[in-house]
Amino acid sequence: MNIKKILISEEEIRAKIRETGKILSEEYKGKPLIIIGVLKGSFVFLSDLCRAVEIPCEIEFVGAKSYYSGTVSSGEASFTLDIDRDISGSHVIIAEDIIDTGITLKKIAEHIKAKNPLSLKVVTLLDKPERRAVDFEADMSLFEIPDVFAVGFGLDYGENYRNLPYIAELE
Ligand code: IMP
Ligand code: MG
Repeated sequence: MNIKKILISEEEIRAKIRETGKILSEEYKGKPLIIIGVLKGSFVFLSDLCRAVEIPCEIEFVGAKSYYSGTVSSGEASFTLDIDRDISGSHVIIAEDIIDTGITLKKIAEHIKAKNPLSLKVVTLLDKPERRAVDFEADMSLFEIPDVFAVGFGLDYGENYRNLPYIAELE
């Protein structure tokens, strides 16, 4: 498969992440903060977001795998990595690449909530609201996109395209 068109440019993403970093820095100033990235897709977003945050913060990862046939989500997700320490003394932000059906993130958010953080916020780079299958919304979503299959900036198709510095639509 080939790239059809660029949906969001590198410059647009950079500007939006910088703005988001400033908002979060204000909100969590003076508070213990952990940003949790959802592997693998969020690794690019997380690395830019954490550098746009101007206050001290810690980084953790959880791993989740969503099952696909081609570009269609099966609606199933499983955990591949968990956090093995106490996070109950910190505020937590979950950073995710994209919310599609919402199934993966709903599961992850419930799992993290059960660890009793001081507060929990979900921040997603991309949101496909048309595709939602469960009742779940992010607290902050940087870009809404239509129901197309997106790649780049961490998002893959069959493990390819994660390293594109922009978000593109596949053919
Ligand atoms: P959900 O459980 O359907 O919300 O799926 C979430 C996961 O599916 C994301 O974390 C991505 O890994 C993957 N995903 C959903 N939509 C896309 C897409 O357009 N491109 C690449 N991966 C996607
Ligand atoms: Mg993902």
